[in-house]
Amino acid sequence: MNIYTIHVTDREGNSHTLEGIEGWRVMEIIRDNDLPIKAECGGACACATCHVYVAPEWQGRLIPPTDEEIEMLDEAYHVEKNSRLSCQILLSAELDGLEVTLAPEMD
Ligand code: FES
Repeated sequence: MNIYTIHVTDREGNSHTLEGIEGWRVMEIIRDNDLPIKAECGGACACATCHVYVAPEWQGRLIPPTDEEIEMLDEAYHVEKNSRLSCQILLSAELDGLEVTLAPEMD
C-alpha cells in the first residue's frame, strides 16, 4: 500500500499537506481531511462540486479529462484552464506532491 502526499490550498489561502493511499480520488483525500469540499455526487462525475485548480506545473502530468468531466466543467462556475474535478484524479506515484487549490463554491 503506497502512500503519497498532496498539497491543497483552501479558499482562505492556507496550504494543507495531506496523505492519501494510491488509487484514492483526490476528492476523497480532501474530504476525509475535513477540508470544505462538497462532492455532492460522491465521485460520480455528476455535480462539479469537487472543482479544483491544478498548479500549472502539474497540469500536464494528469491523465486528460474524459468527455464526461469536460461536460460537467462546462456547467460549473469559475472555470479556468487549469480546472479539474478532483474526483476524477486518482492518486499515483506520478502525482506524489500534486498541488491543487479549492475552487470557489458554486452557490
Ligand atoms: S464529486 Fe461530483 S463531480 Fe466530483
